[in-house]
Amino acid sequence: MSIQRISSGIKGLDEKIGGGFPKNSIILITGNPGTGKTIFCINFLLEGLKNNESCILVLTEQRSEDLKVDVLESMNINLEEFEQKRLLKILELEPELSFSPKVFESEKEIGKIIKFYIFNLVEKIEKAVREINAKRLVIDSISILESFIKDEYLRRTALTFFIKRLKNLGVVTLITSSPSERFKRLTISGILEFLVDGIIKLEYNPKSKEFKRTLTILKMRRSKHVEFVLPFHITNEGIKLIETSF
Ligand SMILES: Nc1ncnc2c1ncn2[C@@H]1O[C@H](COP(=O)(O)OP(=O)(O)OP(=O)(O)O)[C@@H](O)[C@H]1O
Ligand SMILES: [Mg+2]
Repeated sequence: MSIQRISSGIKGLDEKIGGGFPKNSIILITGNPGTGKTIFCINFLLEGLKNNESCILVLTEQRSEDLKVDVLESMNINLEEFEQKRLLKILELEPELSFSPKVFESEKEIGKIIKFYIFNLVEKIEKAVREINAKRLVIDSISILESFIKDEYLRRTALTFFIKRLKNLGVVTLITSSPSERFKRLTISGILEFLVDGIIKLEYNPKSKEFKRTLTILKMRRSKHVEFVLPFHITNEGIKLIETSF
């Protein structure tokens, strides 16, 4: 039986990953600032929206108003039209912690608070997905969550719990993160890359004429994918792969 797949929305990418993202998968988009992570995610959402698939966009570092202006400026697309049709729901979920610093006196209390925060975050996402029967979910970005938990064990258990719950949603999820140059890891936590089904790394190298912006598929479970570095452009339609012979 062949696996059901959904289109990535990135021009030229589906054929490089065996026809699209596998249903129910969680894909990590990692890259330094300005490499195109948000644009990648917007392309993915727009592909769904144009086919009347409901989508959820979770923002943790950017205000929804600012993102809408960015998308209007760079792609001439008004996300509010999709919100009005109830096809798109944007959630601003910044990890604001409104509790007294006194609780930090106890390690056990910190653990409890973090668990509560993650649990709450998952519940909000699950509720939104159910409400509009979403098919696509984007979390831009997960970095805050990764760096927020200092204790290694707690970070591992919390992120594993988070990913497991997302897996049960029956949607395709894109999560953005940044590489940690210091530790030579693909993400800040060094954990997420093992938990997700796919990883796409975005890079920007202004010195290279033909390979200025590139994308590398580092992992795509259940898919035969191209193993070469793929160059792309960012245009007013978002990310477009440059045709190569591979
Ligand atoms: N219409 C366009 N044409 C060409 N390039 C564009 C266009 N719109 C945006 N860009 C480029 O895309 C870059 C921003 O991409 P994006 O916001 O997706 O990056 P990001 O990886 O999400 O960054 P951050 O980590 O800061 O959130 C801009 O710096 C700009 O160079
Ligand atoms: Mg971004």
